[in-house]
Amino acid sequence: MTTYDIFPGADGPEPQAPQRADFGSDFLWGCATSSYQIEGAGTVDGRVESIWDRFAATPGRIRDGSSGAVACDHYHRWPADLDIGRDLGLNAYRFSIAWPRICDGVSETPNAKGLDFYDRLVDGMLERGLQPWATLYHWDLPQWLQDRGGWASRDTVDAFVDMADAVTRRLGDRVGHWITHNEPWCTSIIGNYEGWHAPGLTDLGTALQVAHHVLLSHGRAVPVIRANVPGAQAGISLSLHPLRPASAAPEDVAAMDRHDGLRYRWFLDPLYGRGYPEATLAQVGKAAPVVLPGDLDDIAVPTDFLGVNYYFPETVAHDPDHGPLGARILPPQGEITAMGWPVAPQGLSELLARVDRDYRPGPLYVTENGSCYDDVVTGDGAVRDVERRRYLMRHLAALRQAVAEGVPVKGYFAWSLLDNFEWAEGYLRRFGLVHVDYATQERRLKDSAKWYRTFLRGL
Ligand code: FCB
Repeated sequence: MTTYDIFPGADGPEPQAPQRADFGSDFLWGCATSSYQIEGAGTVDGRVESIWDRFAATPGRIRDGSSGAVACDHYHRWPADLDIGRDLGLNAYRFSIAWPRICDGVSETPNAKGLDFYDRLVDGMLERGLQPWATLYHWDLPQWLQDRGGWASRDTVDAFVDMADAVTRRLGDRVGHWITHNEPWCTSIIGNYEGWHAPGLTDLGTALQVAHHVLLSHGRAVPVIRANVPGAQAGISLSLHPLRPASAAPEDVAAMDRHDGLRYRWFLDPLYGRGYPEATLAQVGKAAPVVLPGDLDDIAVPTDFLGVNYYFPETVAHDPDHGPLGARILPPQGEITAMGWPVAPQGLSELLARVDRDYRPGPLYVTENGSCYDDVVTGDGAVRDVERRRYLMRHLAALRQAVAEGVPVKGYFAWSLLDNFEWAEGYLRRFGLVHVDYATQERRLKDSAKWYRTFLRGL
């Protein structure tokens, strides 16, 4: 079995171009962003250091030695950026709240200037017909909390709920949609076991304790959001991959199942009331987290939607020498993006159908999906990102298929509105529909953005 021929996509037949009318008239069409990746203004208006500032200041951690200190300067340029979103024809916009703007670890009260910024931003969205979707945590933990143990400490759960309380009190009259966490896998496993994201730790036990506290903080924040926001819609966004075994051999199939236990069921099972998967608990042994009585009930709080972030499928091989589970992800075959990620649009419809079937989580939203290519600005100022445009078109065709199959998917947020600080890759990786010239901060619509605009106009 070769790797991705079972995902028609890269080399499969060209789908019929999707039309906006293929989706319901109340379908949400957005772009997603995150605070640290675009805002800049790292020391403005009382913002304190985040774990990503500290990580980026550590030599060797970010491939181009950069940081989010300036990024897209969205903190100052947000009106023009939201204009772009409106002009594309979006009806929703996903952004995240920078916790270091809200809580400085010293004052008893939240930082008024930080809250004021998001207040203005939200008003700006509403003025432009963009439904605000706020993410409370997209990885920029205040460094002062990391210094006290970070997400491995139970106190961080309380601190998160306090921040969620302050933010939803202030914005809850205008923001109805709340995502507690973006991609707990990345926060926990990449940041604390694989170590190539902040805070850069490499201990599985720490990572699984972090994952538990992140999930617990989700469960404890949702009731607070509901108390502060009339008619709140609250959920969480997970990064998920459809999986394939490297071969039909039983050991590869078993390795895929072990990987799935940690990558997928470890997060979804507790969120939907099933606790941590027994087999995976046994496999991780002493690295299993401390779970106190009542935690699992809290984590299984009812939610209003599930956010799914989809980028690519993974092929898993048995490898006893690899990782805690003896499972290794094979390098992709076939079409890949500049990130080295496989292009497999069918993976999106497959994944959405699986999550719906396995957990019946209610409405699904694709809260991120996008691609990275080495864009070039041509002499006439255009960015002819043919591959990204094709990626977007084919993923929307796959989304249409999911809708046609009856999967209750209600919205799509392209990652990302703007090129931005791509974590450990710095500014070397461009995911935007809109090109950013970091020297001048000039924005230019790429051809993919123009295609999205045409699609949204229903032409
Ligand atoms: C996701 C992250 C997002 C961005 C994309 C490319 O995992 O949520 O911030 O980095 O990948």
